[in-house]
Amino acid sequence: MTSDLSTVRTGDPYAALPQRPMHPASFTEEETYRRTRLPVELASTLIPDAYSSPEFFALEREKVFASGWVAVGMAGDVDRPGACVVVEVAGRSVIVTRNRHGALRAFHNVCRHRATKLLDSTARDVGHRGRIRCPYHNWTYDTDGTCLGTPLFEGSDVPAGQEAIFDTSVAKDFDRADYGLLDVAVDTWGFFLFVNLAPDPAPLATQLGDLPARFADYRLDQWVPQRRRTYDVAANYKLVGENFMEYYHLPWVHPELNQVSKFSDHYRWQGPGMYTGMCTTPVSRNTEAGGWDGLSPLSSLGEQDADSGRFTWLFPSTALVVLPNHAFVLLNRPVAPNRTVETAVLLAHPESLEDPAAEQGVEQLDKFWDLVNRQDLEIVERVQEGIENPAYRGGRMCFRFEEPLHRFQNMVIDKMLGVDRVPAGDEDTMTRMFPDP
Ligand code: FES
Ligand SMILES: [Fe+2]
Repeated sequence: MTSDLSTVRTGDPYAALPQRPMHPASFTEEETYRRTRLPVELASTLIPDAYSSPEFFALEREKVFASGWVAVGMAGDVDRPGACVVVEVAGRSVIVTRNRHGALRAFHNVCRHRATKLLDSTARDVGHRGRIRCPYHNWTYDTDGTCLGTPLFEGSDVPAGQEAIFDTSVAKDFDRADYGLLDVAVDTWGFFLFVNLAPDPAPLATQLGDLPARFADYRLDQWVPQRRRTYDVAANYKLVGENFMEYYHLPWVHPELNQVSKFSDHYRWQGPGMYTGMCTTPVSRNTEAGGWDGLSPLSSLGEQDADSGRFTWLFPSTALVVLPNHAFVLLNRPVAPNRTVETAVLLAHPESLEDPAAEQGVEQLDKFWDLVNRQDLEIVERVQEGIENPAYRGGRMCFRFEEPLHRFQNMVIDKMLGVDRVPAGDEDTMTRMFPDP
């Protein structure tokens, strides 16, 4: 018997594409992304080198992470003068603190003398009496970044009686006022802290678009972190995001969740802004494996919010899930093309915590999200393994489920090409994706 395999296979639409890895110069050329620029019904996924190439990663670090607002932590962690967090954006360490008037400030974590890293990543306070001291030669700064002392350089800290030895009159053209810490733009929305490394950034509001209005009734600025977990993920951060944005995978990756979260309950929830959004209405109830009940819902919500789960991906690397009684956040920090450090935070509004059974509810939510997240990360790591194989040159997007991926990948492409564009959204607040059953 002869095999007729060769006759059933038609041509590979990707065969004519350049071999991988592509030349790095092509990463900033529009032509490279032609197939992802097509309307979603016709589009192919972003070039696979975007997930595996060190050169793409280096460019993306500058063009995406060093030139826009990136969520880096929880605003509540910097709640008083001198409190701080030390975060990393685009491979750079940044101190976020509040000055003595309570205003948020952020600085590159670099001494202005010989560049020593000032604070450790574990620091929660800038230092005694709100002073940031360099561990090398003790140059000292306040929480506005002002340089206060440069010992033995221009007069400060000279031991009494030794003025002649430490004569500083030869230190010419030096004014410590010129040696303040290097500023970084910082802002908050809801419970998020954002920084922007660009020298003259557009306001955060431009990037968020209509999200603050969509979430207004949730009063997100009042929610408090309850649990945190860190995951070391062997995958590109975009794969983590793309998995979050679609529920095509639900029946196969999350059998427990799929019992209660029907395809037909999913809607697009996407206005203008650098984000992708979907929602489930009604919000799913618990299963035997756990679920989203367990805390009482917030009282300020309108009818639609009170019965919905909101799932948004804040460009470039943050997942935000808000349900009527809790929120779940994933802050993703890319460290290599194939590695991402993910911090998961479970939050609740103080109102939802008043119930005596609240602690148990938080515990159950934490376990449930950990289960769901591990299922997601396991599959995402398998995608990374596959996408590193140069035989794969791209795939076809499923128009029905993968519109958010298309929107996200085109935001990444815009940034790689230096196009300044905030995507428009749907006209309706919620857009049904399946016809009524
Ligand atoms: S490098 Fe910081 S004081 Fe010298
Ligand atoms: Fe998932």
